[in-house]
Formats: sequence, structure tokens, C-alpha cells
Amino acid sequence: MNILKAHNLACPIDGARLFSREKQLVCENGHAFDVARQGYVNLLPVQHKRSKQPGDSKEMVIARVQFLNSGLYEPIANKLAEIAFVQIAEGEEACFMDAGCGEGYYLDYLFNYLKDKKGGGALSFIGLDISKAAIAESARRNKQITWLVGTNRQPPVDNASVDVIQCVFGFQSFEGFNRVLKPGGKVVLVEPGPDHLKELREIIYREVIKSDPQDLSCAEEMGFSVVDRQSLRFKTGLINHEQINNLLLMTPHFYRATKQGREAAGNLQELELTVDVVFRVLEKGNQRNL
Ligand SMILES: C[S@@+](CC[C@H](N)C(=O)[O-])C[C@H]1O[C@@H](n2cnc3c(N)ncnc32)[C@H](O)[C@@H]1O
Repeated sequence: MNILKAHNLACPIDGARLFSREKQLVCENGHAFDVARQGYVNLLPVQHKRSKQPGDSKEMVIARVQFLNSGLYEPIANKLAEIAFVQIAEGEEACFMDAGCGEGYYLDYLFNYLKDKKGGGALSFIGLDISKAAIAESARRNKQITWLVGTNRQPPVDNASVDVIQCVFGFQSFEGFNRVLKPGGKVVLVEPGPDHLKELREIIYREVIKSDPQDLSCAEEMGFSVVDRQSLRFKTGLINHEQINNLLLMTPHFYRATKQGREAAGNLQELELTVDVVFRVLEKGNQRNL
């Protein structure tokens, strides 16, 4: 497959198309955004921020880099890539966006999975996350992907220009997804299933509630329909003290856990975990207006 640079970036202030000019992206109305030394672009204007440093902190990002690089979640990345691949038509140009890409592990995996496929069309890849620390790490991982600091609420890309959005354990914003997806475009959601990390949750919470994947009625009201649902379940084998701590730190469990729970998890030397993940594919209706 050929890899294209994303050519559908939009100004986060007025929505006009962005063009490359020297070390900046600029729109026709004079808004300009610097390309950072690491290669990413910050397209999150202050008026779209709800806090000074939104999204995951550097500490969380580093924990996630270390955990994911150990390969424990590779079966998730592989299944996601298989699912994303079948959403695009053979030989046609397609744009993939990872919404809430974190430090880029899953999009980089998809990129490498697709780039060796024969007979495909030209592909472009956009990784979007509200955390600057996460995007700076992503940019280190893969220089051929377009990495953007921005929000899923208002993705800084053109209307109806994306073929597949993947959102992995991320913040889902169907209004934003609806605007940027082409008619018939797909959203692939990766979410925890009821038993995901149950052994860790039994340690950090007083009571373990089986969590169901997110209710999608708001997406369905916008004209999305669920066209596929699959799940993946496996055991990690024993993971060590450092991996347990990284896993805890990279998830919202760290903040939700009781103090005693965090301490008990912090003292564990090893633990075997159940990974239980649900993949749902939603299709944007053809008839829907943006
Ligand atoms: C649980 S992490 C998942 C990261 C990555 N998808 C993964 O699974 O490794 C959630 C990510 O969503 C990002 N995030 C939170 N709110 C966001 C928003 N409004 N728009 C884009 N990203 C957001 C966080 O910064 C964080 O990187």
C-alpha cells in the first residue's frame, strides 16, 4: 500500500483547510500552527481546552508506553487491525483516524499491519489526542503518521473526509465523529468487557461491578448503526510488579481505586490477569446530514 500524508486537516478556529508552509500549518484566514520539533502539530486552541493540561499526564503516558511495549496487549492491536482492514474497499484511497490515540501504539500497529498488504490504495493516518505528552510520544514512534493535539469533540479535520475512526479505551464523541466521517464511514470502538482485568479490580475496589460497554443510543439517534460486534478474551500469564504498577497508572482505575486498594496492588509481586475486550463497529448512515 502507498502511504499518503494526511491532506484533510482543518483549522480548529474556523474550519478552513490547512496547508503546509515552511514549519507551520496555515489556513487562508491567517491562522498558523507550528510543527513541533518532534513533528506533531498542536491544533487545540485555548478556547477548546477545559483545563490547563488536558488529557493524560506525562506520568500516565510513560507507564502506558512501558506497558504496551512489553507486548501484553498485542492480541488486542492485532484483532483491531484485522477489523479495521476489512472496513476499507480494496484499491481505494482511505483515511484512518485514531481518536484518543494515547501514545500511538494501536495506530502505529495498524500502520505496520496495512503497509505490507499488497494491492491496496493510498492510505493516510491521523492520530489525535488531547494530551500533548501523549502526542509527543506518538511522534517518536512513527514519523509517517500525522499526529495532532486536538479534541475528539471537534476533530481538526475536514467534514466527511475520514473513512475509519478507531477509538480504543478512549473518549467517545459521536458528534465529532459524525462530522468528520464520510457517509458510510465506520467507527471501531474497543472497550473493556465485563471481566476485563477482574483480578486487579478485585484487589483495588471494595466491590467489583461488571462493567458493560457504553450505551450507544446517542450514536444511533444520529444515524449510526452497529454492524459488527466481536470479543477477545485471554490470560496474560503472570505479570511482574513493574507491569502491574504501569497498568494501574495508565488506566482511570488509579484514581478510582481506594487508597488501601492502590497500596495492596502496589505491593503485589506478580499477578495473572484476564483480558476481556469488546470490539464494536458502527456505520454512519448515508442519509444523515452533517
Ligand atoms: C485510557 S487512554 C487510551 C489511550 C489509547 N487509546 C490506548 O488505549 O492506549 C484515553 C486517552 O484519551 C485522551 N483523551 C481524553 N479526552 C480526550 C478528548 N476530548 N479528545 C481526545 N483525546 C482525549 C487521553 O489523553 C488519553 O490519551
